[in-house]
Amino acid sequence: MQPVLAYLKKHQPRFVDELCEYVRFPSVSAQVNHRPDLQACAEWLLNNCRQIGLEARLLPTAGNPVVIARTPRHRSNGTQRPHFLIYGHYDVQPPEPFELWKSPPFEPRIQGRSLFARGSTDNKGQHLAHLKAVEAYLKSGTELPCDLTFLIEGEEEVGSKNLAPFLKAHRAELDCDAIVISDTGMPAPNCPALTYALRGIAAFEITLQGPARDLHSGIFGGTVDNPAMALAQLLAKLRDKNGRVAVPGFYDDVEPLSAYERRQLRRFPLKEKEYRKFLGVPKLFGERGFTPVEQRSARPTLEINGLTSGYQGEGSKTIIPAWARAKITCRLVPNQRPERIASLLRAHLRKLCPPTVRLEIEEGHGAKPYLVSPNGHQTQAALRALQAAFGTQPVLMREGGSIPIVNDFKQILHADTLLLGLALPDDNAHSPNEKFNLDCFAKGQLMSAYLWRELSKPEA
Ligand code: BES
Ligand code: MN
Repeated sequence: MQPVLAYLKKHQPRFVDELCEYVRFPSVSAQVNHRPDLQACAEWLLNNCRQIGLEARLLPTAGNPVVIARTPRHRSNGTQRPHFLIYGHYDVQPPEPFELWKSPPFEPRIQGRSLFARGSTDNKGQHLAHLKAVEAYLKSGTELPCDLTFLIEGEEEVGSKNLAPFLKAHRAELDCDAIVISDTGMPAPNCPALTYALRGIAAFEITLQGPARDLHSGIFGGTVDNPAMALAQLLAKLRDKNGRVAVPGFYDDVEPLSAYERRQLRRFPLKEKEYRKFLGVPKLFGERGFTPVEQRSARPTLEINGLTSGYQGEGSKTIIPAWARAKITCRLVPNQRPERIASLLRAHLRKLCPPTVRLEIEEGHGAKPYLVSPNGHQTQAALRALQAAFGTQPVLMREGGSIPIVNDFKQILHADTLLLGLALPDDNAHSPNEKFNLDCFAKGQLMSAYLWRELSKPEA
């Protein structure tokens, strides 16, 4: 182990340079004009994998390519070594609004121990930490106690819809004992965490079509419905004053939180005033009867992510817009299913929609929620690795975000996922001025280095 640790220490400045190179690619999966950038980014990653001694391939999908990189398997004595899969994504969220960035999103800037760039924490920095740990093993001539395969995709931020078919097609090669993902959070730089639950997701776009074109609001106003108004009224009916989603049946499948789990979640309460200030809201709001920790990780939600209609330019323009549109996502908890939520929402919207506008519903991506027992021996091994790297006891968390593929890993590869996130609460994932903490980067490499040793120990 010593040579691995020494290698990591010695090469830290170069690793930071490499992360800077990596985040320069504007690999925005939501925007088609960036497809060449996704390809170029994947090729950079492929090269990096090859340089560190991995057998790496770039495999096409119906969407963006997948990078598969494995440690060399040169043993011939027939003994079965454990095999772990490390998952990450090289695609990033759209950087807009540009004007709120203190430096351009794809020109990395280091200030103190923070590296600012879109994709730095979500997720390039986090999986690069694992790659650099494996580089340390390979380049220091230290034998790994297990086989490793990296699977880095380019469509996570748009729902990973081409990845499940990919898993099925490569099932044999990807067959493994567990999946390791660093793409979640930790409470503070000195407080490592293991996440044992993620929320699922169901995405929609709702459009209300009104008049055949934008109309003069003076000449025609008063005789036709306004789609923006109709949409506002419709959306307002989707949540009640107690913060509950007002779609009939929405909570039917929700597994109630056990008294035990509520006690666990109460062990790390949010400092409400600090939290409120950090978010910049005058008052918190959430489902009545639940704590903020429960509300944001263990309870389902319905959110408007985008709302568009009419004239958005400078000054005023007196029109009745021809259409209005809302982008909506629901976050789901065990045992809600995205398909069922979609059909409930569709039925409810049809019922609510007035006859004066035409309703169109487009269904987007969906993913089931994920929950795994934190008591298994692999989880215990991961906790030991976190403890060794950070020098302090890790916490167990449920997270509100989603990683669509984790349920497919379970269903297709029959393996559990260890979520060992390195993102800090103020890393601004999905927001302007996203950053990654370079101490988390370095500690993440250490964690990965220890992890292979701990995970490969036979079950006690
Ligand atoms: N890294 C996040 C997921 C995450 C963030 C989990 C924080 C837990 C805590 C991931 O890249 C992400 O943002 N996923 C999307 C998925 C969606 C677009 C299908 C999400 O959760 O919005
Ligand atoms: Mn993300």
